[in-house]
Amino acid sequence: MSDPTPACPRNTAEFVDLTTHIGGIALDNYLFNASGPLCTSEAELTQLGHSATAAIMTKSCTILPREGNAEPRYQNLPLGALQSMGLPNLGYQAYLAMLPRLKLLNKPIVVSISGFSVTDNQTMVSAFQQSDADLIEVNFSCPNIEGKPQLGYDFEQTDQALKVLCQLGDKPIGLKLPPYFDFSHFSAMADIIKQYPISFITCINSVGNTLVIDAETESAIIKPKGGFGGLCGDYIKPIGLANVRAFSTLLPENIDIIGVGGIKNGTDAFEYLLAGASAVQVATCYEKEGVECFSRISNELATLMARKGYKTIAEVKGQLKTL
Ligand code: SIN
Repeated sequence: MSDPTPACPRNTAEFVDLTTHIGGIALDNYLFNASGPLCTSEAELTQLGHSATAAIMTKSCTILPREGNAEPRYQNLPLGALQSMGLPNLGYQAYLAMLPRLKLLNKPIVVSISGFSVTDNQTMVSAFQQSDADLIEVNFSCPNIEGKPQLGYDFEQTDQALKVLCQLGDKPIGLKLPPYFDFSHFSAMADIIKQYPISFITCINSVGNTLVIDAETESAIIKPKGGFGGLCGDYIKPIGLANVRAFSTLLPENIDIIGVGGIKNGTDAFEYLLAGASAVQVATCYEKEGVECFSRISNELATLMARKGYKTIAEVKGQLKTL
């Protein structure tokens, strides 16, 4: 009789299960695009639908279409990018109209909204609650609109906004947060979130209002806001990891955390998983590499997990060791 034991041990990447869920919505992979680059037009969103991204995430929309800030507004840097896009988008009604077509691509759809007032956000959340969207991410953290502070840094206004936005329907709603740098801020925000039926949080948006100077030209490198812009990529990974970790220790398990910030390979994705992320979003690397990044990073993550003997996302999630 032949030996039923397989000749090859089952610790290869193909046996690693990267499925996960956010707000009760099943994702067939741990990675998808962030609301940021290359997710504004229907063509870009359709291309995402044909890629290995786990979900199709839209650019943060506003009530009216926007051209965004003046150029140059995005500059690559050795370890990431500096950007002040200013929410260029087609206006929320264009995204509402394209949802039935995007739905045919058979991936969960996450709409991102970024209104300039509670009333704007109320209008958009109400509309998307009645739509084909699977998840709604409300962006409280765009640093790039002149005269509009990031709502996530104003705890009282965040509380007031959530009172309104969390009673508009049953679709899972989440918040995209700015980076926090102090434990008192992690706890203050977690205490607010716990009072509402928030299904997920996304940590972090770019580190806002940073300044990069070109010594040769003696100039700022982007035009908006006198050169102040959101820092992205490798530079911000330790900040993203810290925010995911802090919130994962402060929030109940039923609030999922999506990690963003400097994810460009399987090791970065694995680190966010250890910190407590249920999924991650890719922004700067997607901008630089295009949709191929999703399958590459997923394969790298599966290979790393297989080498360590892990087979599921749940086995690793939040298992960071401290010294
Ligand atoms: C932008 O469009 O300015 C970036 C979006 C964001 O930071 O939320």
